[in-house]
Amino acid sequence: MKKIAPSKRTENVRHALRDIVPIAQQVEKKGKKVIYLNIGDPMKFDYRTPEHMWKAMMDNKKEAEGYCNALGTDGARKAVANYANKSGAKGITMDDVMVTGGGSEAILMSLQALINPGENVLTPCPTYSIYTGEINFLEGKINEYYLNEEKNWQPDVDDIEKKINEKTKAIVLISPNNPTGSVMTKKTLQQIIDIAGAHDIFIYTDETYDQLLFDDEEFIPAASIAKDVPVVTTSSISKNYLAPGFRGGWLYKHDPQGALDDYFEAIKKLSRLRLGPVSPVQFAIEAALNGPQDHLKELVEKLQKRRDLTYKRLNEINGISCVKPKGAFYAYPSIELPIKSDKEFVLDLLEETGVLVVYGEGFGQKPGTHHFRIVFLPQEETLNEAFDKIEGYVKKKYS
Ligand SMILES: Cc1ncc(COP(=O)(O)O)c(C=O)c1O
Repeated sequence: MKKIAPSKRTENVRHALRDIVPIAQQVEKKGKKVIYLNIGDPMKFDYRTPEHMWKAMMDNKKEAEGYCNALGTDGARKAVANYANKSGAKGITMDDVMVTGGGSEAILMSLQALINPGENVLTPCPTYSIYTGEINFLEGKINEYYLNEEKNWQPDVDDIEKKINEKTKAIVLISPNNPTGSVMTKKTLQQIIDIAGAHDIFIYTDETYDQLLFDDEEFIPAASIAKDVPVVTTSSISKNYLAPGFRGGWLYKHDPQGALDDYFEAIKKLSRLRLGPVSPVQFAIEAALNGPQDHLKELVEKLQKRRDLTYKRLNEINGISCVKPKGAFYAYPSIELPIKSDKEFVLDLLEETGVLVVYGEGFGQKPGTHHFRIVFLPQEETLNEAFDKIEGYVKKKYS
């Protein structure tokens, strides 16, 4: 039979952190041990999903066996609304909330309901690549604003203002940020909200890591200070609640003047098209958000120690420098070595040492700069082994 052609629209869909895995598997096949520091999946390491989330699903077996409401169960939606109100996004009710298959599905449906060919939303550069991948798929235009490495990866507010055009529909914010680990300051956030308001566009804020903060860093949810500027917030139980495999996420709107009404209806239409989110997970979301939060203290303490080690070890390597991550579990060090591209650097590092990180090209960066993203989830022993290898590789190759 002749080969079936995939749609043209899939040609430009990339997701570097997953695309790199088959290459690592080839290296593994040749007999080399691979240290996977490419994917932000805590469950690959010494973390477990809080037990009460499993229990909530098991205790509701009968209710969880069928389809649930396309927008999620009332219980899960109320739990999200309550979480939003507690975080300062006042006035959110379950009618503003939609439960999705991880935050990923929320992001995909939000973009699908928004972008016509040729239109754009401003996305950070570097960014978590689901945004650019899906915008490419939708034949939208990629329109990126820079995060300033010299300013702890804060968004470049002037660049945002400059890049808005008549086809811009929203500004995407990711804080705490993947891949840089930065947390946006209140001042920067307020400036961006003001710009959005002045241009009649809305804020799309990805707050997936909002509980994973170091050094008593303050996190301000966009919806808590946006007043009349419309905000759509997405998050999930994947990271804060250590349950990426459950695929439980959500979005909610904060929209006092109803500017998002038609848009939200369109997202709802898409949610009905896929019948609904995973039913058992509704109970896990409810248990996660309403139940004990004890795991968070231990989780953040563990991550902060691993962050400290990562920051120290990376900056000790000649030719590598790293801004201190303030949240999430990623670092995005800069490579200041005579390399052609960071993709080549990362692939060669993998071949030579078995350490798998993700090349900066996969997230975006300023022209002429090179980076890689490293996940600091593993135990200190594994991290030290990886850093010894990276250090040894750089010394051998470049000194
Ligand atoms: C910034 C950001 N947003 C969204 C997601 C989606 O995660 P999930 O679909 O597991 O909720 C991720 C996952 O790594 C992420 O880093």
